[in-house]
Amino acid sequence: MVEEIYMRRPIMAGNWKMNNTVSESVELVKGLIEKAEGTERDFVVCPPYTALYTVSELIKGTEIKLGAQNIHFKEKGAYTGEVSPLMLKELNVEYVIIGHSERRQYFGETDETVNKKIKTAFEYDMKPIVCVGESLAQREGGIAEPIVKGQLVNGLKNIDSKDAERVVIAYEPIWAIGTGRTATSEQANDMIKFIRSVLAGIFGKEAADTVRIQYGGSVKPGNVKEIMAQSDIDGALVGGASLKVDDFAQIMNY
Ligand code: PGA
Repeated sequence: MVEEIYMRRPIMAGNWKMNNTVSESVELVKGLIEKAEGTERDFVVCPPYTALYTVSELIKGTEIKLGAQNIHFKEKGAYTGEVSPLMLKELNVEYVIIGHSERRQYFGETDETVNKKIKTAFEYDMKPIVCVGESLAQREGGIAEPIVKGQLVNGLKNIDSKDAERVVIAYEPIWAIGTGRTATSEQANDMIKFIRSVLAGIFGKEAADTVRIQYGGSVKPGNVKEIMAQSDIDGALVGGASLKVDDFAQIMNY
């Protein structure tokens, strides 16, 4: 059992959200490159679209990997304001955040669009970071598990179990995002164990054991060690604290 846990390579990802101009992105990523040397973990930065090209050029040959914050499911066409998988692929984007709660809440993302986008990511050889998580009302109402299960079952519909090892799941309780209120590491670990059991139902146990599951929601240098010490947590998806070199470097190298 312990061996299986160590086989999953930790993945620490920074979701910059709608922050950082190109010049701010350059400064941040240059700082991170230095701090990432020689790592055996996966470090991912997810800049806004406008900075993707510049960041992509800067990180060539370094330990920092590139992620996008969204993707469209069509290759091209009349979809004003959207960015296609082809465009991302050309910039060496390796990971794509899909179904972040902010996109579900403000931009009409549903489990159905999440499902289409995951399939698109695979078609273009990118790895999805699929976000799931319950609201405070849902947790207090005792329905956190069925909500998360529904997001997984519908979001991962018709995904082949041979693709499971390319999937990253980010468990992000909505009430812990940007609020300074972290789930206790035990709460996070319990839900992540539950997520893996749901994945076993979808993909089979062996494939489910290859999926990396991150925790996200107010991860900071001060709490990352405790979170990463949990038995089932394979990484973190970090918002606010990924915007400062020192903070994110401490998180990467917890
Ligand atoms: P936060 O955001 O770290 O600022 O809470 C996490 C996220 O939304 O991915």
